[in-house]
This record gives sequence, C-alpha cells and structure tokens, in this order.
Amino acid sequence: MFDRVLELNFSKRLISNAVKFDASVKEYKTNPFSEVKDGMVLCEIGVGIGVNLKYFPSDITYFGLEPNSLFHDLINREKKRVGLKNAEIFKSEAENIPLDDNSVDFVVSTFTFCSVKNQGKVFNEISRVLKPEGRLLFFEHIVSDSYLLRAVQYIMRPFSKILASNCDPTQDLLTIISKNGFKIIKIRYLNFKKSFFLNPNILGVAIKARTFLEQKQWRSLLGASLNLYCQLQTIN
Ligand SMILES: C[S@@+](CC[C@H](N)C(=O)[O-])C[C@H]1O[C@@H](n2cnc3c(N)ncnc32)[C@H](O)[C@@H]1O
Repeated sequence: MFDRVLELNFSKRLISNAVKFDASVKEYKTNPFSEVKDGMVLCEIGVGIGVNLKYFPSDITYFGLEPNSLFHDLINREKKRVGLKNAEIFKSEAENIPLDDNSVDFVVSTFTFCSVKNQGKVFNEISRVLKPEGRLLFFEHIVSDSYLLRAVQYIMRPFSKILASNCDPTQDLLTIISKNGFKIIKIRYLNFKKSFFLNPNILGVAIKARTFLEQKQWRSLLGASLNLYCQLQTIN
C-alpha cells in the first residue's frame, strides 16, 4: 500500500517534470539521437511519458518498454503527435525484453538504468536483442569522482531508492557498460546545476563489441589447445 503511494507520487513528479527537463537538455540530445535513421529498428527501455519519441525519424520501427501503465496513455498520445508509424508499447521490464534475438539496431535508455532491479540481466537482454554491432544510446547520471559529492550520493541513496522508484545515484555505469561487452564510441560528460547530487551525467553511444566476443572465443579455444598440449606432454 505504502509502496503504491510512493510510486504514484513518483509518477506524478515525472509527469510534471520530464518535459521541462527534456527541454533543458534537448540541445545535447540532438547529436547522438540523429544516429538513428529511417528504416532502423529501435527499442527504448523505460519510456516514461515518451519525451524521446520526437527525436526519432517517423519511418523507424519503434518498440517501447514501460512497466508503469499510468504512462501508457501519454506515450500513445505522443506517438500520434510526432507521427511514429510503426510503434508498439509493451508493459514490460528491460529484464525481459519481448523481442527476438539479433533484431534491433538501437537500444535507447535515458535515466532508466539507475532504476532497474537487475542491471546484469538487463545488459544480457540488450546484448541478445541487438544485431551484431548494434548500438546502445545512453543518457544517465553516474557516481561522481569527487569525494564530497560521492559521499552525498551514498547518503542520499536509500532515500532516493525509496522516493524515486529505486533510483540509485551511485551507479558506476561506465564500468558496467564495459564489463558487459560494450565498447563506448561516443561520450560526453554533462553537469546540470538543477540535478544537484545526480551529477555527472553521461550521454553517449556504445557498440556491441563483437570483436571482444570473438576475442573471448579465441581465448577459450587457445586455452583448450594449451590444455590438450599439456595433457599430451604428461602422457609422453
Ligand atoms: C526516471 S524515468 C525516465 C523516463 C524517460 N526515459 C525519460 O528520460 O524521461 C525511469 C523510467 O524507467 C521505468 N523503469 C523502471 N524500472 C524499469 C525496468 N526494470 N525496465 C524498464 N523500465 C523501467 C520507470 O517506470 C520510468 O518510466
């Protein structure tokens, strides 16, 4: 019951603030978002009220995941307003993306990674649905390098998790992206005065690092050959 009240409160705050915040960061978003071209297949995780829909060309195939059904009417209205022709919205979490393997050119996440329950599972799902060398477009706040700000982030963490739908201000997203087999090809650090302890923010693009996976396969093949060689030596 209490959880429901908090969730409703967060939803109301998102509805009244998301458009205003988006207007203040529009100039930064335009460049990486312009990498999405007509004909591409895109999956957005944590659509919110749909502030990103206007950045995409109208001839893409858009799949949006938003577990909070309170936002679905607003998303559908925005979808019509911006003229996205092929768009489908799922009441799903990013831990279980209802799309086929290797079917998506772009996954987009803006201020969603901080709230998901299981980041490892989400990255597995993103890797699964992305085509080889598919891209992840991200805009997220991360843990600060400054000792003082980081201390504030850790102090605020429990409150933020309760009051802002599980939002973790201390996420080390750069490490998480790299550890999950993605290579960052574009990144910009941004600080917003009004975001207080939710700074710095990173805006960028990461590519599903196919070569890294291939290297991993080569490494295991090399390991197996070395093992066999050692066993033969022992037999001799
Ligand atoms: C801070 S809001 C950001 C919304 C939007 N991306 C934006 O930039 O305005 C985070 C969104 O992620 C959604 N969300 C939370 N957990 C999620 C999960 N596990 N999978 C997908 N979306 C999730 C929330 O319902 C919320 O709409």
